[in-house]
Amino acid sequence: MRGSKRGPSSLARFVLWHVSMTLRPFFRQLFDADSSTYTYLLADEETREAVLIDPVIEQVDRDLELLKELGFRLVYALDTHVHADHVTAAGVLKERLGCKTVLSERAGSVRADLLVKDGDRVPFGRFALEVRETPGHTNGCLSYVMEDQLLAFTGDALLIRGCGRTDFQGGDSRTLYRSVRGKILSLPAGTVLYPAHDYKGRTSTRVSEEKQHNPRLGDAKSEDEFVAIMAGLKLPNPKKMAVAVPANLECGVPAPPPAVGRELDRGWAPVILTPAGVPEVSPAWVHANKNDVNVIDVREPDEYRGELGHIAGASLVPLATVSAAASAIDAQKPLVVVCRSGGRSGKAALWLAERGFARVASMAGGMRAWNAERFAVDYGSPQAAVPAHQG
Ligand SMILES: [Fe+2]
Repeated sequence: MRGSKRGPSSLARFVLWHVSMTLRPFFRQLFDADSSTYTYLLADEETREAVLIDPVIEQVDRDLELLKELGFRLVYALDTHVHADHVTAAGVLKERLGCKTVLSERAGSVRADLLVKDGDRVPFGRFALEVRETPGHTNGCLSYVMEDQLLAFTGDALLIRGCGRTDFQGGDSRTLYRSVRGKILSLPAGTVLYPAHDYKGRTSTRVSEEKQHNPRLGDAKSEDEFVAIMAGLKLPNPKKMAVAVPANLECGVPAPPPAVGRELDRGWAPVILTPAGVPEVSPAWVHANKNDVNVIDVREPDEYRGELGHIAGASLVPLATVSAAASAIDAQKPLVVVCRSGGRSGKAALWLAERGFARVASMAGGMRAWNAERFAVDYGSPQAAVPAHQG
């Protein structure tokens, strides 16, 4: 008998199977019955690097044990958004395993290690998740899509035959409709979708199924019809909302005691403390008083020179270098920290306040807010890395 009639040999089949398996990540769907939340473990079985999406604090021991048993090294704990119905385990996983925590830069968190935006990549081993901003359920909702687009994790933007509510946390029905249609249902028909919750025992769906059968967001529904459906829901608030939202802004780990508030000098400016304890001043105040303060810009050099420009005289100290540069920062003048939209500058201001800079504040809304006020900007090269001592 000729070999060609027998099809691929068992060795060839094994090689093909092995190649296809090694190019796919390890995948496990986990469940928290109390909040009906799905947590997803993805890993590269060769490098052992792993990520967890939407871990739940009550299940942290389960997840730690599983990671240990399987020999995976957690590199990122990602949240799809600031959940209102449960507390994330991301911060505890960071404390226990040294992984980095990830949230949207639009989520309003000053605690997450990585504040991501549309188009960013979150790598693990030979794989990576693409970040897609899918706001509408909350302002800072993200979907994470495997780079080969075989799998996508949609958080609460798209649920199986449903979607997340749009009546709090910056939710907006029109925005959600456009997010789901433009960023999720535009994926290939066969992409398997994994939501953050299901309340009926279902585990996954596909783009083609949701386009055909989703009663809110399927092909048959117009944007106006969707808006009307969502306006009619009238849902009660989640039981844990008052606890979960502030905790999740801190990645599930309580903020340090309010030492910042006690030590902070708020007499030098109309400093407002955000709910997360970040001291902030307005762009208008900075504009009127910029000669009396030192301004440090904690964005990256290309942003400093980029379309939003920078405040004249601002020193460039990218966030990752703030701790190294702190000893050289002039503490004689009050310090205003600036970034794109206030997230990174808030982290830096909090960090500096905790280390003895009493007169420090983040500029609320960052350079986006500064530009919205039409205040002048510079586009030139960075100043010296840290402000010079002045007297
Ligand atoms: Fe949610």
